[in-house]
Formats: sequence, structure tokens, C-alpha cells
Amino acid sequence: MTTPVLVAVAWPYASGSRHLGHLAGAYLPADVFARHQRLKGNEVLMVSGSDVHGTPITVRADAEGVTPSDIVDRYHGEFVQQWETIGISWDLYTTTGTDNHAEVTQDMFLRQLENGHIDKRTSDQFYDPEADRFLPDRYIEGTCPHCGYGEARGDQCDNCGRTLDAVELGDPRSKISGATPELRPTEHFYFRYSDFTDRIGEYLRAKQGWRPHVVNFAMGWIEEGLLDRAITRDLDWGVELPVDDLGPGKRIYVWYDAVIGYLSASKEWAQRSGDPDRWQHWWHNDESRHVYFVGKDNIPFHCLFWPSQLMGYGGLHLPDDVPANQYITFKGGKASASRGVGLTIADGLRMFQPDGLRYALAANFPEQADTDISVEEIARRINEELVATWGNLVNRVLSMIAKNHGAQPEARDRTADDEALLAGVDAALVEADGQLERVELRAALRTAMDAAQSINAYLNATEPWKSAKTDPARSASVLATALDAINGVRVAFTPFLPFSSAVLDGVLGPVEEWERREVGAGTVIDKPTPMFSKVDIEALLGDESD
Ligand code: MF3
Ligand code: ZN
Repeated sequence: MTTPVLVAVAWPYASGSRHLGHLAGAYLPADVFARHQRLKGNEVLMVSGSDVHGTPITVRADAEGVTPSDIVDRYHGEFVQQWETIGISWDLYTTTGTDNHAEVTQDMFLRQLENGHIDKRTSDQFYDPEADRFLPDRYIEGTCPHCGYGEARGDQCDNCGRTLDAVELGDPRSKISGATPELRPTEHFYFRYSDFTDRIGEYLRAKQGWRPHVVNFAMGWIEEGLLDRAITRDLDWGVELPVDDLGPGKRIYVWYDAVIGYLSASKEWAQRSGDPDRWQHWWHNDESRHVYFVGKDNIPFHCLFWPSQLMGYGGLHLPDDVPANQYITFKGGKASASRGVGLTIADGLRMFQPDGLRYALAANFPEQADTDISVEEIARRINEELVATWGNLVNRVLSMIAKNHGAQPEARDRTADDEALLAGVDAALVEADGQLERVELRAALRTAMDAAQSINAYLNATEPWKSAKTDPARSASVLATALDAINGVRVAFTPFLPFSSAVLDGVLGPVEEWERREVGAGTVIDKPTPMFSKVDIEALLGDESD
């Protein structure tokens, strides 16, 4: 039986270049997971898009003196090109700027309003008397009430990661004029998240196998009780309200609409595929599995607010797992697009081959703790592991077979050691499968690499290059066995290394299932071209300090 699997990936703000922390935190893990699920024969729908609303976009546009659309077009275009280069296998990568997204958002809003989960309230918000306008979210900076960081933004503190309400900030300043803002009353719609504290608590307590840091963080919020939050803003950029009772100059809040992107993108994908109701196969289906790939600063939005919004609408499938990642740090500092810390995705792609970068980041996925990376660490992983162990192994075995036999030889009279090697590879595939199902991607990569290492050890023990002269039949059997083992290990690498896997597919045939296949005797093997090249670290480090 195949399972419909929704691979839902955080929507990057189209407000600036994204860095390797985003790639390792959300996009790459999602892609590895999706590729494994497809190989298992499950029905994967992997969606995301650029988050084009909110003050991250307008603040940037104001600073550059261009329109929000200019900013969105620039960065959405950049992201789309990068996904292609790094091999992120979207079923649909769209934006929150489509008519479809606005319709789906407005439909949710209206249903929740009807159901009594949305109401209107007046509250005091910061107003800039010089610029003569309200200052939502990132138009305010000040001191974080939780950690004392001086440059916290009105929506979130970049230092401690806490979600903030602008009026909590100490020493608030307007990002537009620098003026000290004053509080003025303004009317907004609120989503009654407090209606859902108990149901979300029950929902979370029933979850098995979630990452401890994710459950603990989310349950911390439940213990304090969910608070109602404004879901509109004094802004002229965003999804328009489907009711006109607030007057002009108000839009739906970016975080309320962005999470709805998972649903609207599923509908857009169905539209485009020519079967407009097909989205229901994932969303109106108790048997489907929805896995959300996000960074830890997104945990409340995906574990608490989005499930509440779904419950307030009714009938739609809730998240089954949110394997949120911790942060990637660069030499100890948290990567931040807005503060220019860390390598951008473009930097990474300029310095490394796509599969090399994918490998090094996957080996450092911050699944349980913040994880530090650097150019040196990426280069070391590529040279000492990917090239030295996997690349050289494949190259060595294919070259010897090409030179001595021209085709996969017969494996006659397999010894206990030969059988043990193949049994070990089969066991590694079972192990990696379990790890990938549990979203322990780092461990799955380790399992694949250990299995590759076991083939190297086997070759060092059997020395087929020596027996080629003294006992050609035995040498042939050893090489055939090694290539059969490689053919199993490459299955486990396929989700991680799609580009070099495609090269191997050309030689050994496509990988179509999570299973080792024997390489048929007589399969033609030509002299191989190496899958990877070594990284010149000296040259790169010179490059980085430019
Ligand atoms: N744009 C947000 C960020 O970069 C993530 C939004 S995820 C979504 O943190 F699901 F809400 F879209
Ligand atoms: Zn803080």
C-alpha cells in the first residue's frame, strides 16, 4: 500500500539571499526525505514557495527605494534558480503572491470568522508621529524583554529566537525615522488561539517519536496557555481582507497567510496537474502523512498556530511531524540573512559541486543541537569522506572491471566473506530506511558511508589487483561482489547525492526501489569518469577572504 506523503517546507521570505543555514535547516532535509519516500513508492507531494508578504519585504523595499514587487521578483527568481542548481525536487515551488493563495486565505478567514474563532478588537500599537503611520513588526526595533538583546525586532528576537509583540520591546525606535514611537489605538482582527490550548495540548501529547526539543518547546507554550493574536496589520502590502469592516490600509498578517501556503500550493499543484480535486488525496485523508520541514524559530507557527488554524477551519489533515532543525552557526555565530552572517547559498554553490555541498551539509544537519560549519569543515567532509571513501571506491572498482573484463564478471563460488559483505550492505539498507523514515537523516548518511567503508575494507583484505595475475577467477569474483555491494550502497546515497547518482544510473541502470539489485553478469562497464573532484582548500580560503 502506498501512502500519500505531504512534504511541507518552510516558505523563505523573498527579502534577501538565503544562507547555508536555511539550506541545511529546511530545504535539503526535505529533499532527502522526499526522494527516499518516492523510492519507497509513496505518493509524495512536496510543496513550498516564496513568502512574499509582511514587513521583511516592505522594510527592504523602503530601504532601497524600490517597490515590494521589485524585491520579491529579484529574490524569488534567485531562489528558483538555486533550487534547480542544488537539486531540490519540488512538485511545486510557488509564491504567496498568487490569486489562488489569496482566495484560499480569504476562504479560511471567512470560515473561521463564521465559526467564531476570529473577532475584532481595539488595541494600542506603536505609531510614528514623524512618518505619520503605524509601525507593525519589523518597523520597530528595541530591547528584547527576554534576553536583553538591543536590536530585537518587533516580531521576533534574532538573538534568543523568541516570538515577540512589538509593544513588549524596551526602548522602542522607529526603523523609518528613528523617532520614539507613541501608542495609538487601532482596530484589528484577532484569531482566538486560546480556544485551542486544550485541543492542541492533547494533539501534541498523542504524538510519538517527535524530536524532544520540538515537543518540549511547543508544550512550554501550552503550559502557559495560547494567547489570541492579531492576524491583521496596518500595512498596505499583503492579502486583502475579505470583509471591509476595518477600513483601508489593513492587510492580513504575513504569518497567518504564509502557513496557509501549504494548502494553497497543494491546490495550485492539483490545478496545474489537470485534476483540480487531487489535493484532497493529501488533505482530506486520514491515511496521509504530513511532515513539515522548518527551522526551530518556526516551531510555534507550525506546531501551535497552524494546527489551531486548521482546527478552526475543520476537516483538514493536521501535521503528523515537525522535525524542526536547530541552527547552523558559522564560527559560533547564528547565521542570519538579515545581518549578513554566514555563507549564502550562492557562496556555497560558487565554491562547491552541488553533491559535495549536499553531502557536507547533510553530515552536519543540526537535528539535535546547534551545529557549527565553516568552509574548512565543508571541504574536509568532501575530501576526506565523500571523495576518499565513496568516490574513490566507485572509481577504483569500475576502473578495474573496465580494464580487466570490460563488463561485470561472473561471481563464481562466493566465499563466506563475500556473502557477509553483501549481507552487511543489505542490512545497511534496512537500517538507513528506518533512519530516513524517522527523519534521522544524518544517521542514515552515516550508515551509507559505513557501508561504503566496509567495501573498502573487503577490497583491502581480498586484494583483487594481486589475484588478477595469480587467480583470475577469484579476482573476477571479488570485483563482481564489490560492484554488487556498490550497487546496494548507491541506493542509500541516492536521496543525498542526486547528481552523482544520475551518473551511476547511466552505468548501472536507474535505482527504482529501496533494494539492492545484482549487477547482471555481462553488463558493459566502461572506463569511468570520477563522480567528484577534490576541493582545493587553499584556493577557496583565499577566495573567501576576498
Ligand atoms: N518566511 C518565514 C521565515 O523565513 C517562514 C514561513 S514558513 C510558513 O521564517 F509556513 F509560514 F510559510
Ligand atoms: Zn531575545
